[in-house]
Amino acid sequence: MYILSLDQGTTGTTATVINAETFEFIDKENQEFKQYFPNTGWVEHDLDEIWKSVRLTVETVLKRNNIDTSKIKSIGITNQRETTCAFNRKGEPLAKAIVWQDRRTAQYCESLKADEELFKKKSGLPLDPYFSGTKMHWLLENNQYVKEAHKNNDLRFGTIDTFLLYRLTGQTSFKTDVSNASRTLLMELDNCSWDDELCEKLGVDKNLLPEICESICDFGITKRLNFLPDGIPINGILGDQQAALFGQACFKQGTGKCTYGTGAFMLVNTGEEKKYSDHGLLTTVAYKYQGKTHYALEGSCYIAGACVQWLRDNLQIIDNAAQTEDKALNVKNIDQIKDLLLLPFFTGIGSPYWKPNAKAALIGMTRATNTDDICRVALEGIALSINDLIKAMKSDMGSDLEEFKVDGGAVANNLLMQIQADISQINVTRPQIIETTSYGAALAAAIGAGLMTIEDVSKQWKKESLFETKNDHRQYYDYKKNLWSKYIEINF
Ligand code: G3P
Repeated sequence: MYILSLDQGTTGTTATVINAETFEFIDKENQEFKQYFPNTGWVEHDLDEIWKSVRLTVETVLKRNNIDTSKIKSIGITNQRETTCAFNRKGEPLAKAIVWQDRRTAQYCESLKADEELFKKKSGLPLDPYFSGTKMHWLLENNQYVKEAHKNNDLRFGTIDTFLLYRLTGQTSFKTDVSNASRTLLMELDNCSWDDELCEKLGVDKNLLPEICESICDFGITKRLNFLPDGIPINGILGDQQAALFGQACFKQGTGKCTYGTGAFMLVNTGEEKKYSDHGLLTTVAYKYQGKTHYALEGSCYIAGACVQWLRDNLQIIDNAAQTEDKALNVKNIDQIKDLLLLPFFTGIGSPYWKPNAKAALIGMTRATNTDDICRVALEGIALSINDLIKAMKSDMGSDLEEFKVDGGAVANNLLMQIQADISQINVTRPQIIETTSYGAALAAAIGAGLMTIEDVSKQWKKESLFETKNDHRQYYDYKKNLWSKYIEINF
């Protein structure tokens, strides 16, 4: 028996199969898909291409492992959050999805600033183009197909989980989970339902939105698909960062993790009590199960792995992500690059500064600067961004963090992990399963299917490595942290 998990991320889709009795990871298939940048600051995805990547990754992983589809007990979905989809009743896309990184609503957000405190209090989120609500507003104002469908009562809005669920269930289930809904600016955190006042402010009619459900429940069953049989239940849906928190077994108040994906997102569970930040973090829902809502504080950094992707695709100085480590290790005397800094603000800055119009920079180059140096400072730039999240989290929690658990593709880079431990003066714990997002969604589905309990998830979690803080380069990193903060202070 198996559990299938679908992780629809920003740069790729991953289908993972786990054993439904032992909960061991069996295999996964990943496929990247096209990113569209039609305008400065705009980022879009084609929903049909996303759907195709889901179908292909599922078909491939099932075929490679000779899996009899009648033995799939449950499906879990996890997804890039905030990315906004508009489709009609038939499940046909009406527009390209507006990706969470897209900055097109920056000015609109600015125009709403008088209401920022209201949005923060009710939804836990600042008014930033990151979140779905202003993207829906933009589609309603600017896209003729969306406008027409709205007029004809044929418009549905949702995040990626909702679009996938709608298609997987043959257009019978139009739902989302609380963790995804908490990223829209439209959900009230206390009662986890769409808020009239916030919906009205953004001009989004509640009837266009999916039903908000608990993260673990009966979301529907597969129907009318050509790659899966009818009748497989979908029992777990979580936004990708919340799925990773779940997979890292951060169920206790004060426990947390940081996922190094396209961006990097640090979440700390605050239990059933929602906590507001004084240091630029978000208040969000971790998950809801059996009537209880669990909240988290979140630091959202827009660029982590995407910076490595930029080195690969735009600068073309590496062929694959792993090469950044080898090249960075070629830099023998790091003191010679102490003034070299890569600030990877390619899509603005999220937490803790919230500067939607900030731009990336590579500063401090000399004639001696080479591609090895750039790889090294790219890794440092990622760690410095995350360091800002760690600092904010410590201040909000009023204490040092018990543990810094990490996951996501980029944590395979040992040098990056050591740099993080040294810059942030924190010990970094890497688990055995670093694809915790997919794994977390699979475990949520397994719980929903009655195959395991939350307590079992904690038993599944195993440590692989610990990167302890070293003081060898203390002065170097102190100098860099200072340079980093000054640059941000002066420029943004
Ligand atoms: O909020 C955006 C986040 O969900 C994207 O995650 O893994 O695609 O970087 P990822």
